[in-house]
Amino acid sequence: MEYKINCIGILTSGGDAPGMNAAIRSVTRAAIFNGIRVKAIYRGFRGLITGEIKEFQTQNVSNIIQQGGTILKTARCTEFKDAEGRKMAFETMKNEGIDALIVIGGDGTFTGARIFAQEFNVPIIGIPGTIDNDLFGTDSTLGYDTALNTIMEAVDKIRDTASSHERLFFIEVMGRDAGFLALNSAMASGAEAAIIPELETKVDQLDELIKNGFRKSKNSSIVLVAESEITGGANGLAERMKREYPEYDVRVTILGHIQRGGSPTAYDRILASRFGVAAIDALLDEQRSIMIGIVNNKIVHVPFTKAIKDDKPLDEKLVGVLHMLSI
Ligand code: F6P
Repeated sequence: MEYKINCIGILTSGGDAPGMNAAIRSVTRAAIFNGIRVKAIYRGFRGLITGEIKEFQTQNVSNIIQQGGTILKTARCTEFKDAEGRKMAFETMKNEGIDALIVIGGDGTFTGARIFAQEFNVPIIGIPGTIDNDLFGTDSTLGYDTALNTIMEAVDKIRDTASSHERLFFIEVMGRDAGFLALNSAMASGAEAAIIPELETKVDQLDELIKNGFRKSKNSSIVLVAESEITGGANGLAERMKREYPEYDVRVTILGHIQRGGSPTAYDRILASRFGVAAIDALLDEQRSIMIGIVNNKIVHVPFTKAIKDDKPLDEKLVGVLHMLSI
C-alpha cells in the first residue's frame, strides 16, 4: 500500500467519554497542521458504512474542547461485525479518498478496527476513550479522570444524607468488568470500601467488610460497588445484607449514565490534546494498528492486540490502603 497519507477519517465509537471532543479537535488540527485533510465520520463505524461523512476545517472543532459527549455521535455498530459491513466501509473509504483512520473508543472499537485493518490493509491508529480505564498499556483512558471526579462529587452529597440517617450506602458505579472506577473513586471520596470484580473470585468481599467491622464510632458507611455480574452489583449486595445482616439500615444508589457526561477535567483535556497529536505523529511515522497510550506521563504505542486482549492489572495493594484509611 502507498504510504503517503493525504486524507484521514476520524470517528468516535462505543460508549462516549468526556474528552472525546478535545481529541477530535486535537487530531483535526494536528492533521491540518501537517497538510493532511480530515473527514469526520458520524456515528462510529456505521457512518463509514452509510457514508455519513463531512470534511472538517480547523473551525469545525472550535469551542468543543470543554464539551462532554462527542460531536461526531457514537454507536455500537453490529453491521461492522459482519464481513459484508466492513466491505461496504472500505468502499466508502475509497470513494471518499480516505487513506487512514483515527478511531477513538474502547475495547469494542479496537477489536473492529484491528480486523478491518488486517482485512483491507488500512492504516488505523486508536485513541483510548472510555470512562472504564480498562485498556491494557495505558495508565489512563480519556474520560476516566472526569468520571472519577463526577462520582466523587456525587458521593460527597450522598455522604451528607448517609450520616444524617446513620445508614450504610452501596453506591454502584460503571466500569463494565473492571474495578478502576470503584476503587479509585472510593479512595477519592474517603469511602469505607470498594467491592470490585477483580477480587470477587479471591475473597468474599462483603464478609471481609463486615468481619473487619465498619468502625464502631462511625454512624454511617459508604461502599463503592463496581457494576458487574461478578460483584452482584449494589442491589445484589443490599439483598444479601438484608438476609445476612438485617441490623444494618441499607440504601442503594446507582449512579448510572451521569458518570459519562460533563465537561472534561483539565487532565482529560490535556491527555486528549497529547493523544491527538501523537496519533498523527504515529501515522506519519508509518505506525499501524496501534493504540496511543500514556505510561508514567510518556506517550507510548500499544498494538491493538495487546490493548484489547491483555487484562489490565489493577493494583490490589490499593484495597489495603483503602482499608487502612477507613479505620
Ligand atoms: O464502556 C462504558 C460504559 O459506560 C460501561 O461502564 C457500561 O457498562 C456501559 O458503557 C453502558 O453502556 P450503555 O450506555 O450502552 O448502557
